[in-house]
Amino acid sequence: MEFRQISAAERTAAMFPLQSYAFLPSPWPEEDEAAYRRRMVFFRTAINFVAEEGGTALAGAAALRMRQNVRGKVHDMAGVASVASHPSARRRGLVRGVLERLLRQARDEGHTVSALYPFRPSFYARFGYVGIPRHRTATFAPEGLDHLVRAELAGEVERLPMTDGFDEWQQLQQRLLGERHGFAVYDETRAAEFRGDKWWMAVARAGGEVVGAVPYRVGSYGGELEAENLLSTGPLGRALLLQFFARHVDQVARVRVKLDADDVPELWGTDFAVTTEAKVDHPRRGGPMVRVLDMPALTGSEAGDGDVTIEIPDDTLTGGLWRLVGEGGRLTVTKGTATPEATLTIGGLSALLYGVLDPTEVVLRGLGTVDGAAEGPLSSLFPRHMPYLCADF
Ligand SMILES: CC(C)(COP(=O)(O)OP(=O)(O)OC[C@H]1O[C@@H](n2cnc3c(N)ncnc32)[C@H](O)[C@@H]1OP(=O)(O)O)[C@@H](O)C(=O)NCCC(=O)NCCS
Repeated sequence: MEFRQISAAERTAAMFPLQSYAFLPSPWPEEDEAAYRRRMVFFRTAINFVAEEGGTALAGAAALRMRQNVRGKVHDMAGVASVASHPSARRRGLVRGVLERLLRQARDEGHTVSALYPFRPSFYARFGYVGIPRHRTATFAPEGLDHLVRAELAGEVERLPMTDGFDEWQQLQQRLLGERHGFAVYDETRAAEFRGDKWWMAVARAGGEVVGAVPYRVGSYGGELEAENLLSTGPLGRALLLQFFARHVDQVARVRVKLDADDVPELWGTDFAVTTEAKVDHPRRGGPMVRVLDMPALTGSEAGDGDVTIEIPDDTLTGGLWRLVGEGGRLTVTKGTATPEATLTIGGLSALLYGVLDPTEVVLRGLGTVDGAAEGPLSSLFPRHMPYLCADF
């Protein structure tokens, strides 16, 4: 078995048969292969690995070059996707071999965190990943936002075809990358594919600045307006976009929009009827998972006060003793020398860092052991803080 890094140009021959069999109805029409080949221009910067036997790829996976804000620090992030193996080669450890090489290569190229959408979280838990929230979807009748229809707001919304609104949407995402915990963006090469998408873009502006943007499409007259993630810099941007949706009251029966797990749509209006859900099932709608690939790179993250030495056993990228010190609002991570007060899997450490589990929950979930005396400092270092990944890949 040979493990090999391949270029985007080689993906059509090597990875398309594995991916299309795994993820598409099959046998597939020939144009699907041609469409895949054309799309590879957007994967030129991805890191791709395959396991080959006799020149035939039996398993493959890729890492998209992305960036992510984790507790105020922006990291290069490996967005893992295109994971598939040939049905007759499954359960032979080939994907393990591919993923281990892929993550090491991504780390060596400077990616300090990683994220993915799992077909089954227990599979990726074996590779050190831990779950973070899936986006919420709010569904409501535009009548519910009646109070906004005539409201005088200090800004305006412009409706543009995606191709014309794309640059401002990307700029807003870059701004949110700097501001929001968990938020992730693609590199320019991968993002460029979406410029041609058949979506409208509603761009909210105030004081000459973009304060919100949301791609959307109208399903049918009297039907549904379906919107992607409602991105805004704050309450004004959100109100402007909601006002824009409210003005579709005579045109659509429902609006469906994706939101951050922290959003509370029932507070958007009085008598506002809304269903907010995060439907998670497998293999199609998994909640995203994340992991740390490099411990010293966490230095500079926002953190509470504390000083704890932890041990991460059994992880080739992050294993060892680490001293975590939070002082003046920032974290410093150095090699540890003291006796560890907690033993954490990299999934357990990632859960604390990303703010989704506290030390008690980490222990209950089997992601480590924590001395009683270390619980307080670990909670203080990593207060609960729900991340919003937003990007879907
Ligand atoms: C999921 C898939 C990629 C696994 O490939 P594979 O080559 O069988 O995986 P491996 O043999 O390398 O298994 C790696 C580890 O995961 C474990 N594992 C395999 N399938 C698993 C499952 N469904 N649930 C939990 N663990 C699983 C293996 O036991 C092995 O554990 P170990 O290395 O700790 O002993 C393959 O079945 C596939 O292509 N499925 C269809 C496409 C798909 O769902 N891709 C994932 C998209 S996110």
